[in-house]
Formats: sequence, structure tokens, C-alpha cells
Amino acid sequence: MATAPRYHIRTFGCQMNVRDSEIVAGQLEQMGYERAHGDADADLVVVNTCAVRGSAEDHAFGYIGGLKAMKHERPDLTVAFAGCMAQEPGTIAWLKRHAPHVDVVFGTHNLHQLPDLLERAAGSREMVVDVWEASPEVQPNLPSRRADGTSAFVNVIYGCDKFCTYCIVPFTRGREQSRPMDDIVAEVRALAAEGYQDVTLLGQNVNSYGHDLEPALDLADLLAALEPLDGVRWLRYLTSHPKDFSQKLIDTIAASRKVTRHVHLPVQSGSSAVLKKMNRKYTREQYLDLVGRVRRAIPDAVLTTDVIVGFPGETDEDFADTLSLMEEVAFDTAFTFIYSPRAGTPAARWEGRNPVPEMLKKDRLNRLMALQYRISLEKNQAWVGRSDLVLVEGLSRKDPNVWAGRSETNKVVLLPREAGVDLTHRFVPVRISGARTFFLTAERTGDPVSAPLPEWTARVPVPLAL
Ligand code: SAH
Ligand code: SF4
Ligand code: F3S
Repeated sequence: MATAPRYHIRTFGCQMNVRDSEIVAGQLEQMGYERAHGDADADLVVVNTCAVRGSAEDHAFGYIGGLKAMKHERPDLTVAFAGCMAQEPGTIAWLKRHAPHVDVVFGTHNLHQLPDLLERAAGSREMVVDVWEASPEVQPNLPSRRADGTSAFVNVIYGCDKFCTYCIVPFTRGREQSRPMDDIVAEVRALAAEGYQDVTLLGQNVNSYGHDLEPALDLADLLAALEPLDGVRWLRYLTSHPKDFSQKLIDTIAASRKVTRHVHLPVQSGSSAVLKKMNRKYTREQYLDLVGRVRRAIPDAVLTTDVIVGFPGETDEDFADTLSLMEEVAFDTAFTFIYSPRAGTPAARWEGRNPVPEMLKKDRLNRLMALQYRISLEKNQAWVGRSDLVLVEGLSRKDPNVWAGRSETNKVVLLPREAGVDLTHRFVPVRISGARTFFLTAERTGDPVSAPLPEWTARVPVPLAL
């Protein structure tokens, strides 16, 4: 009996890529593929790439390079290159030159063509390349294979129209295109009926959701439509742009029982002059006003952010403004990046004329991180002694005697493992017992919370053997 071919997907980049990989997996399984343990036992390896920074590209190129030897040993191995890097102008030429062992290239707009492309690649000795400039008008409804039975990503808006001057995403993901609200509600309802309780709405810019629909809607309307769905415990959304974070949205989140109290508001810089050059469309003062309004309406909100240092022309004063904003807001966590020039973006041209010297970029990053680590630790220490609910993701990769999960506010929480108790993908009530810069430790205070089950299903909760 012939065994089924096996696939392995290596995903780089953001949650949108993770979601795309689930769709790639769904299509492959529909074609009869089975999931491999890793690339070593796969017949097909799909590399889903990210182009947001040079370092992300280096990782993908490094991985592709490593597959060369594997392909040499196993000439039947099929290698597919996908994702945001495929959408960039120079990539195909680079692959043809340096990575002829790649068999198939497809982009972010034509995932649905994968079965055809694999078929074409099977009958061809040439690299099969098909990358689209834009998405189809109507997104095809594709099968997908989600990672687990509790947490689900749901696309709500594709693309980005913001064109921040440093960013490649509007070029790799195309124009904004919202999914009809009914489709999203139907998908979340179906997920809830399958037992998914933690739903994250995805878009590069989720709070411009709905402006292109007829009639126009917004993210607050969508959250309000999802709120009554039984079975959904946590509703999250990624990523939100401060410019479109409306008062209506703040009020909707404040009134919701399900939208989590984690607000990720990428600030990028604390200097109004830099923000203007970045085309972020808000000033330092407007950002601080927004933070104040969020904190007044949602007092227990945990705020996190993204910051770029070393944007072309960033002066010592600009950077000092970033540090002072970080002190003033006191985010729980910040993702900090050194500016990475992206070919074809306006800032990449400015980088040629007016770059911040490499040493200074690194020095600024270190100072920013040192400040943030101090604040993160203080913020985390304030949680010690508090009760919380943790969604356990699995055993910690570093220590198999510890469960690792996320709190409602998206903090990493570690719990001791107990003999005979499986907490995987369960919501567990805890008391926070300790704090570090990057995580909290906790003790379990009760049984895992069972799902509030959807009324229309006959499913009976399976009691956990404790
Ligand atoms: N759409 C999201 C973020 C997408 S990229 C948003 O606007 O918030 C995630 C983060 O990567 C950005 O917030 C930014 O901080 C960082 N980033 C994007 N382009 C970058 C570049 N060219 N160099 C360094 N960091 C960058
Ligand atoms: Fe990039 Fe700006 Fe769009 Fe975010 S909002 S994806 S940073 S262009
Ligand atoms: Fe990277 Fe593309 Fe996401 S560039 S951050 S994978 S949208």
C-alpha cells in the first residue's frame, strides 16, 4: 500500500502568515498529504516567508539554503517558497540564481492555487513561479487545518493601506479588503461549536475593518456582533493602528465581557517629527491622549507596543522623546526593533542619505530595552497575589516540569506540572505567585474551567481526569 505523501511547513513572520500556513496545510490535507514530524521526513517542504525586516529575510534564506543538501540527498523532495518575500521584486531572480532547488514559488494572494502549482511542478524540471499582484475580488473559501482545538485565528481584513514610510507590508499584502461581517460571524460561530474558545481577529490594521464594505461598518460593530456568541470566552484582535482606535471602539471593549483587556498600540516613536516622517498620522500628544482615554475607560488594560529606533534622521532629541514616552506610558511589554531599510519604501531612500550610524542604532536599542525591562518587571510584580485565568498552551519548551500559558492580558504564565494532570489547551484559574521580566509564575487554584457550551450543540463537556 502506498503511503501518503507528507508535508512540513516552516512559517516565519506574523500571525497572518501563521493563518496562511493553516490554509496551506488544509489544502494539502485535502489533496491527501499527511503532516510530517519535521522537514527530515517530509516529501514537501513549504517555506512561508516574512519580509518585514532584513533579519526575517536572512532567517528564510538560511533555511532555504539548508534545504539544498536535503534535496541533494533526496531528489524527490519538493520545496515550495511562499509568503511576503515572494511578493518582493528581487526575490525570484535571487532564487533562480542561488536556490535552484526551489520547485514552486507562490505569493500571499494565490494560496488557493497551490494544488495546481504542485501538479505543474511535478511535471516540470523548471521552477514553477506564480505570484499575483493583488488578491482575487472574492476570497475563495479554502479548507484549513488549525493548530489546536481551543485557539483560532480568524482573518477579518486583508492588506494594508497605511503606507508607513518604513514598511514593506502594503507592498507584500496589497490593498485593504474587509471580509463581510456575516462570513466572519458564521466562521466564529462554527469555531465555537467545535470548542474553540479563544478567537483572535486578524488584520494588519484591524481597526480599519469595514470601511470598504457596503454599508460601511467598523471593528466595534464586528466585536458587538461576536459578543453574544456562546462558547467564545476570549475575543482578541491584532494589530490595531492608533490612528483608527476610535472612542466607539474603546467604549465597546470597556463594555464587553469577552474582548480581552490587552491593548496593543504600536507607537513606533515618541517624537512627533519622526512620526510625521513615518507617515503614522498621529502626534505624540494624540497618542498620549488615546492612552489616557483607554486607561480611563478600561482601568485594568494591559498596554503593549512596538518601537523602531534608528529611523533615518532620528536625532538624540527624537530618541529622548521616545524614552520619555515609554516612561510616561509605562507599557507592560514593548517589541523593539532597529530600523531595517526595505527596498522600494520612501524611508529606504532617506536611509541612503541620512542614516543613523549602526553603533548609535544599537546603543539606542540597548538603552530602550534596558528601560523597558525595568518597567516590565515592575508591571509584572504588581500582579503577584492576584487571581487570573490562564489558557495553557503546553509544556514549557525549556522545562518539561512546567506548563506555559497566556493570561487574558497576554502575559506568559508558568505553572508547576502535577502528576496525572493534563492542562493542555485548558483555561485554568490561578493565583500569581512570582514575577520576572518576561513571565509570571502561578499556582493553580481550581479545576480547569469548562466551556460555556453553545446551546445548539449536543456536545457534553468531557470532565478532566484530575
Ligand atoms: N500592522 C502592524 C505591524 C506590522 S509589522 C502595525 O502597524 O502595527 C510589526 C512591527 O514591525 C511594526 O509595528 C514595526 O514596529 C516593525 N517594523 C515594520 N517595518 C519595519 C522596518 N522596516 N524596520 C524595523 N521595524 C519594522
Ligand atoms: Fe506597516 Fe504601517 Fe501598515 Fe502596520 S499600518 S502594516 S506598520 S504600513
Ligand atoms: Fe512579515 Fe508579511 Fe507578516 S512581511 S510581518 S509575514 S504580513
